[in-house]
Amino acid sequence: MARKQKAGGAESTSPEPAPPADAPAEPAAEAATAAQPPVAPVAPADKPKSTSDILAAARAQKAGGAAPAAPKSTTDILAAARAQKAGAGPAAPAAKPGSTADILAAARAQKAAGGGAAQPGTSSASSPAAAKKAAPPPEIAGLPAGSKPSVEAMLKAVRTGDAAATEPPKPKLPVKASAAPKPPAKGESRRSFLDTVLSPFVIGFTALAAWGAIGSLAAARFMMPNTVLELPSRFKIGSASDYPLGMVSEKYKASRGIWVVHTDTYDGRNIIYALSTVCTHLGCTPNWLDAEQKFKCPCHGSGFYVNGINFEGPAPRPLERVGLRVSEDGQLEVDKSLKFQEELGQWTDEKSFVQVS
Ligand code: FES
Repeated sequence: MARKQKAGGAESTSPEPAPPADAPAEPAAEAATAAQPPVAPVAPADKPKSTSDILAAARAQKAGGAAPAAPKSTTDILAAARAQKAGAGPAAPAAKPGSTADILAAARAQKAAGGGAAQPGTSSASSPAAAKKAAPPPEIAGLPAGSKPSVEAMLKAVRTGDAAATEPPKPKLPVKASAAPKPPAKGESRRSFLDTVLSPFVIGFTALAAWGAIGSLAAARFMMPNTVLELPSRFKIGSASDYPLGMVSEKYKASRGIWVVHTDTYDGRNIIYALSTVCTHLGCTPNWLDAEQKFKCPCHGSGFYVNGINFEGPAPRPLERVGLRVSEDGQLEVDKSLKFQEELGQWTDEKSFVQVS
C-alpha cells in the first residue's frame, strides 16, 4: 500500500473503509507521505519465531528506524538495545522488562542514548548522586526563605565560597609525644633486667674479665717467693715456774702440737719435758684426761700414762719427746726438730728434758 501511494497516489484497493471524518485531510496526508524519504520495508508485526527472525528485525530497525515489534524475550531486548545504542533510533518500547537482564539492557540503552525517562523501579532516579544533582543551591545567609537575593548578595556568596574553597588546607600539627615515658610494669622491668644480664654480650664480657683476673692472680703468685709458711721448730714457752709439779699444759697443743708436762713419775726425777701430740699407732691426736691422769687416743683407744708410756690399745710404743732446754734468757725453749724415743733409750738424753731443782 505504501509503494502504491508513493508511485501514483492510487487509491487503495483494500477493503478497509475510508474514514469519513478524515476525508478532507486526505490530500494533506498524501502530501506528507510524498515528502517523506523512502522507507524500508517494515517487518511484519508478527511474533518472531526464532533468533534469526529477531536479529533480522533488529537489523531492519537499525537500518530504517522503524518501530519494531515488542520484544518477547531477553534476546529481543538485547538486540533492540544494541540497535538503539548504535543508531540512536527510537526509544525502546515501554514494555515492562521481565528479568534483571532486561533491566540492565534497558539501562545501558538509556545511558548510550543520552538518558531518557527513568524507568520506574530503577536506581537512577533515586540514587544519591542524582539527588545531589537535583538538590537546589543553598540559600544565601541572611535572606528570608522564598525571597530572591540581589546580584551583589549572590556575588558575595560566590566569593565567600570561592575563598573558602581556595583556602589552603591547614597543615596537620604533629602529635605531641608524652613528655614523661610511662614506667614499665613490674614484670616487664624484671624481664628487661634478666634480658640485660643474660645477654651474650654481658656473659662474654664477664667471662673475659674473670679470665683476666685469674691470669693476673697467677702472675702475681708466680712473682712471689715459693716459701713454706711453717712455724719455726724452736720457740719459747715461758719459764719453768709457769709449770708446777704434776701439771700437764695443753696451751701449745693446738698451735705447736706439744704437751708441757711437769712430773716425777718417770724415774723419780723432778723434770719438765715436752711430749708430741701424735699417737704412735696411726698418728691421731690423743686427749688428756685429767681425772684419769692419762692420754687417750679417740681413734682406736690407745692409752698413755702422764709420762708418755703406752699401757692400752694398739699403740706399739710410748709417745715421743721433743727437745727442750733453758735458753739464755731463762725461758724454756722447745726444739721440735729433735725427737727422743723411749724404746730407743733416748729419754735419758739431757736435751729431752729440763731438770727442776
Ligand atoms: Fe691412736 Fe690408733 S691412732 S690408737
